[in-house]
Amino acid sequence: MSSRTVVRGGLVITASDEIHADVLIEDGRIAALAASGTPAAGAFTAERVIDATGKYVIPGGVDGHTHMEMPFGGTTAADTFETGTRAAAWGGTTTIVDFAIQSVGHTLREGLDAWHAKAEGNCAIDYGFHMIVSDVHDETLKEMDLLVEEGVTSFKQFMAYPGVFYSDDGQILRAMQRAADNGGLIMMHAENGIAIDVLVEQALARGETDPRYHGEVRKALLEAEATHRAIRLAQVAGAPLYVVHVSAQEAVAELTRARDEGLPVFGETCPQYLFLSTDNLAEPDFEGAKYVCSTPLRPKEHQAGLWKGLRTNDLQVVSTDHCPFCFVGQKELGRGDFSKIPNGLPGVENRMDLLHQAVVEGRISRRRWIEIACATPARMFGLYPKKGTIAPGADADVVIYDPHAEQVISAATHHMNVDYSAYEGKRTTGRVETVLSRGVPVITEREYTGHAGHGVYTPRSTCQYLN
Ligand code: URP
Ligand code: ZN
Ligand code: ZN
Ligand code: ZN
Repeated sequence: MSSRTVVRGGLVITASDEIHADVLIEDGRIAALAASGTPAAGAFTAERVIDATGKYVIPGGVDGHTHMEMPFGGTTAADTFETGTRAAAWGGTTTIVDFAIQSVGHTLREGLDAWHAKAEGNCAIDYGFHMIVSDVHDETLKEMDLLVEEGVTSFKQFMAYPGVFYSDDGQILRAMQRAADNGGLIMMHAENGIAIDVLVEQALARGETDPRYHGEVRKALLEAEATHRAIRLAQVAGAPLYVVHVSAQEAVAELTRARDEGLPVFGETCPQYLFLSTDNLAEPDFEGAKYVCSTPLRPKEHQAGLWKGLRTNDLQVVSTDHCPFCFVGQKELGRGDFSKIPNGLPGVENRMDLLHQAVVEGRISRRRWIEIACATPARMFGLYPKKGTIAPGADADVVIYDPHAEQVISAATHHMNVDYSAYEGKRTTGRVETVLSRGVPVITEREYTGHAGHGVYTPRSTCQYLN
């Protein structure tokens, strides 16, 4: 039995086009588009008609960087796959790629199985996995090949967090060589963690324990240095490189230089680095703890470098790095010692709106909004054109977006399972109205109509952004 929906009269925006078109959805996929008001569009018939007059019709967001229920620093990120994917849907995101973790002494398979068990049957939207590689040795390298074959095609390594996720340069080079061979994409947390740990110890010995010192010890230069090193290691290995959560303008400069040399090097930034700064980290009464993440927030001047990178395509993707910890009981673990504040910010629900605000403010175009938030992450992580666009054959992951609605971001109204908002009180123009996931309404005129288990695991091909 076929089920059909028509979305009529909206402005369909993709990374490449803006057209007034009606969209026919059949059996969970985009079946056809036709210019609104034409006989071809008039011939679309369906059981369900959604009037999108005056609205945007955009692909569902693809958030390529989330950490649902991630164990970190003696606690666990507050959003489960259920609560976090529901919040994502509210914010117009219909696919996440989360990070499964290999713990030291364990196999990639054990880590991946554990993350499948957390997610399966619980997600409101579709999901895939990257693999965090914490323990590089011969068996790990062999396992990387198997994971690529089964749709886990990207691997995060850490130059930070010695003793936890950290890999040394030799381990990084070996994993990169393997990725060069098997088509995997290395994602790098680029901060010099060995040097940072020395600075942390020295700061604490001086009695500098407040959250703002988190930003001071994790220096922009140590992000830029690690970014440079990762780029050159990838060059030696002949592998592409994707640098996650870029926050320092000096790191953007390293990416720009490498790309000018023609290297397949890519960069992601996150809304927190575009909209927040060390001013937030310095908020009194330990409130700054709400803004502790790594890489850290930077002084405001860095924001211009990030926006520029997004305009010049030296940064290609905006993901959230959604990793929420409640202020009460979780961020508070670091009272008196900033190094014990669990690292991470909530944001999976806010990304599409914050980036639309950048459209409203003239920083990026509407098509660039869709490119950095939907199409490029889908291409980068091997989900295109199933995800990230509105075109015949694509999954009908479609958002009806009201570009004129005003809202105020607040923990009182958000759906993430966390007791504060990093953007509390921020006014934005534009709001998600209705969200379809494979043609199924999961948000219907600002009511949640989805359910846990609707979202399915989505294996990925290798990176499609290389050529
Ligand atoms: O502070 C952050 N970013 N927490 C999540 C883990 C990571 O490094 O991405
Ligand atoms: Zn990281
Ligand atoms: Zn992360
Ligand atoms: Zn369902």
